[in-house]
Amino acid sequence: MELKNFDKYTAISREHIPYLRDLAAAVSQSPYRPVVHICPPCGLLNDPNGLCWYEGWYHVFYQWYPFGASHGMKHWAHVKSRDLSAWEWCDEILIPSQPYEKNGCYSGNAFVSPEDGNCYLFYTANYKTEKGRIPKQAAAIMKPDGTISKCSRNPLIDGAPSGMGGDIRDPFVFEQNGRYYMMLGATDPKGKGQLILYSGSTLLEWDYLGIVRITEKGKELNLGTMVECPGFIKSDGYDVLMISLIGLPPQGDRYLNQFTSLALTGRLDLEHMEFRAERTQETDCGFDFYAPQPFYGKDKTPMVFGWLGCGEQKLPEDRYHWRHGLTLPRLLQVRQGQLYTPPCPEVLPAFGTPIQVPPHPTPYSNPKIPVCLNWSFEDDGLPHVLQVGSSEDFWSLTVDMAQRSITWDRSSLKIPVDPAYGSLRRCTFAPCSPMELLICLDNTFVEIYANNGERVLSGRTYEAGSDEIPAI
Ligand code: FRU
Repeated sequence: MELKNFDKYTAISREHIPYLRDLAAAVSQSPYRPVVHICPPCGLLNDPNGLCWYEGWYHVFYQWYPFGASHGMKHWAHVKSRDLSAWEWCDEILIPSQPYEKNGCYSGNAFVSPEDGNCYLFYTANYKTEKGRIPKQAAAIMKPDGTISKCSRNPLIDGAPSGMGGDIRDPFVFEQNGRYYMMLGATDPKGKGQLILYSGSTLLEWDYLGIVRITEKGKELNLGTMVECPGFIKSDGYDVLMISLIGLPPQGDRYLNQFTSLALTGRLDLEHMEFRAERTQETDCGFDFYAPQPFYGKDKTPMVFGWLGCGEQKLPEDRYHWRHGLTLPRLLQVRQGQLYTPPCPEVLPAFGTPIQVPPHPTPYSNPKIPVCLNWSFEDDGLPHVLQVGSSEDFWSLTVDMAQRSITWDRSSLKIPVDPAYGSLRRCTFAPCSPMELLICLDNTFVEIYANNGERVLSGRTYEAGSDEIPAI
């Protein structure tokens, strides 16, 4: 097909629709596409947004630049499902069509109003000037019939509170003790990451409360240079805060990706504006993960989706004009302060009958259709190695029972993925016997779940030779 060039800040309008249909048809024939994971019909996907269970449907929105595999004008694409397994595209999407959102509809969450039963989609109206951004927070309202319209009072918050700069974004609205709260990620004038909070007696009027200090054992946590995509949820009697951080320096095996997502379990003390963490962990210990958003699913079940991608990566699918996908939906559970995020059981049948892998497996080749491997063994104090691919082109997983460590190694793949950030990821796990791993392969999308989601590692792997389909 004949590709067109678009200005970076082009919003979809009616005349683009035939072109985007053709582009999506061409993209659907390209290699590397997953079957089970949510990925864009064309263009670039990043953060999951507006996640909710509403009127009998799971709604998933995501950051979407439709015209190509690059970061540009962000829309909210929209899919829905009754069962977390079959997803339908919805034409009700957020298009940046208003002057206050001239540079895109950035991330945010969904909140179903107990007062009017509508689902409020909060987002940052991206507004750039020569001197930097002016932060604007906005809402769109999804009615029970699925129609979505922008709130006439937008922007609901216009500008930065005193003492803060222009980089404030990604509203996450929740309710506590009969009041509404909106968390936002920010950077302060000294260039430090901050979490800030507003409160509202209605969902449309917001007053600034200030900075929420995040501490662990009395010490303030390093939040890098910018907090993005905060998320807050209650699970198993714990408060769970998820934050995504820019500029957090690597610490041993941790924080090796371009950007980092942390999950903190503890208590949010609104009176003292402090989140006291009992435990802080990487939300996902793999290569390609960022901006997870927690939400309540059916029956108020705490759940989370993440972006199975990170930062400014360049990926092999770029030449086919799409990039990235979301993780599988995961449950969000806490036991003794430890977060567990196993995959939602509803998605597993799509991977077929699990393949039982012996404790010391021979190399396994990725069949490129969704499969899930069950790899389980007793604690014999030995290292166990799984190699996926061919003898010249593979990735490996080493589980060392003496060290209680999992190492994922992508260095033997012929097609390197995001090599600037290294090709090894390593994490440790609590004493256990047996050790149980569930490995979900969905073409180039890989998710490794250890011990029921105590550790999860997500990433992309590409096999050489699978890219022989000519570029679009
Ligand atoms: C995180 C992020 C958000 C922002 C969005 C823009 O990946 O940078 O902070 O709202 O992506 O697409």
